[in-house]
Amino acid sequence: MFNKDFIFGCATASYQIEGSIDKDSKVLSIWDNFTKIKGNIIDGSDGSIVCDSYIKYKDDVRLLKNLGVKAYRFSIAWTRVIDENNNPNQKGLDYYINLCKELLKNNITPYVTLYHWDLPQWIMDKGGVLNDEISDFFAYYTDVVTKALDGLVKDYITINEPQCIMHLGFRVGAHAPGLKYTDKEMLQAIHNLLLCHGKAVRIIRKNVKNSTIGFAPCSRPMVPVSEDKELYDKCYNKYFELVNDYEFPNRVSIYSDPIFLGDYPKEYYLVFKDILPKITKEDLKLISQPLDYIYQNIYTGNYYSLKDNELVKEDFYFGYPEGNIDWLQVVPKSIYYGVKYLNQRYKLPVIISENGFCSNDFISLDGKCHDMQRIDYIKRYLIELEKAFKELPIKGYFYWSLFDNFEWNSGLSKRFGLVYVDYRNGNRIEKDSYYAYKEIIEEALK
Ligand code: GAL
Repeated sequence: MFNKDFIFGCATASYQIEGSIDKDSKVLSIWDNFTKIKGNIIDGSDGSIVCDSYIKYKDDVRLLKNLGVKAYRFSIAWTRVIDENNNPNQKGLDYYINLCKELLKNNITPYVTLYHWDLPQWIMDKGGVLNDEISDFFAYYTDVVTKALDGLVKDYITINEPQCIMHLGFRVGAHAPGLKYTDKEMLQAIHNLLLCHGKAVRIIRKNVKNSTIGFAPCSRPMVPVSEDKELYDKCYNKYFELVNDYEFPNRVSIYSDPIFLGDYPKEYYLVFKDILPKITKEDLKLISQPLDYIYQNIYTGNYYSLKDNELVKEDFYFGYPEGNIDWLQVVPKSIYYGVKYLNQRYKLPVIISENGFCSNDFISLDGKCHDMQRIDYIKRYLIELEKAFKELPIKGYFYWSLFDNFEWNSGLSKRFGLVYVDYRNGNRIEKDSYYAYKEIIEEALK
């Protein structure tokens, strides 16, 4: 059983839920522009309304309160709170101040993500992640936010899924800003992103009393098909391997080693020796300031076995359980092994900052949304997380997402929510999984 201190929460992100993309002098983000280009978003939708949370935030909090979660993870839109001259926008800040006050009034702890992908376009125009100045811009933004939310927020997450930012946005161009960087540019940009993290940590520690800080990468853990020690070790090594088969560069160690271990992996300096960015001792010190948690977004994984002593990735059989989005196979043990590997290497308590299921939900004749597969998914993953909880320090779990929202280049066509959103009229309808998660929380915390 999880204990009473275990944090059950829900997560969202600014561009995916807020709407009101031009209210109160908000400036443009790279997503505001990316969505305007025909063909970028599968269904041609954008973030202009979505869940309308900028207007309906009190209703958001009511939904969270009835759900019984202790914590709400949301992100701040940099473009709402800082203008194009790099000055604070008080109206934008007021929105987050009011949201936090409403949450606290209802005994829900705000967990604030500073960067969940909506980079100001004016910073992109100055070179974005390739401009060395970006970490100073990010530090200033962090300073403004932490001062504005003083006394309201102590739990911060600097950056969400650096791997997706870099790979999807800057390598393959499937996400905003739709660029295709070279290897050399990628390494420089990743280093700059890590410096953003480092400078933000320094500011948060200075401005926020009793702060907790983490960053939230994602991963697709290798799941051993049997409990064999040799297989486990090989899966563990593969998880942290620098260059792997599906992405440049790998998902885990290039981002998390500098942050938690104080340097890039050894192979990094060998493999990329001709294209290394300038990395100083001071940089690494800044990047690796102590954190409180390893946050991690885990949705799925892959099975591995040993054949002739070699690690082999298993194919999913035809008809294998999966969600309504191509990468989401149901692999509950991925959450168990993911937290185990991370804790083993980085030795900090883990919080699952995202885990969730996408299904083809619709409203039935009785006016309700019967999303049985999502309930099954949550239960299966929580069984595995509970198993890990008995062995390791695990502090919390955030379900992605409170409601259906703008799923990046899949637009409004993919639903992950516990609450159904009717995009024709903005109606919100609690799905069966909303009530199931509520029951799970009540039961777990008894
Ligand atoms: C994550 C991302 C979220 C959400 C989720 C479901 O990669 O952080 O914003 O879109 O996946 O795909």
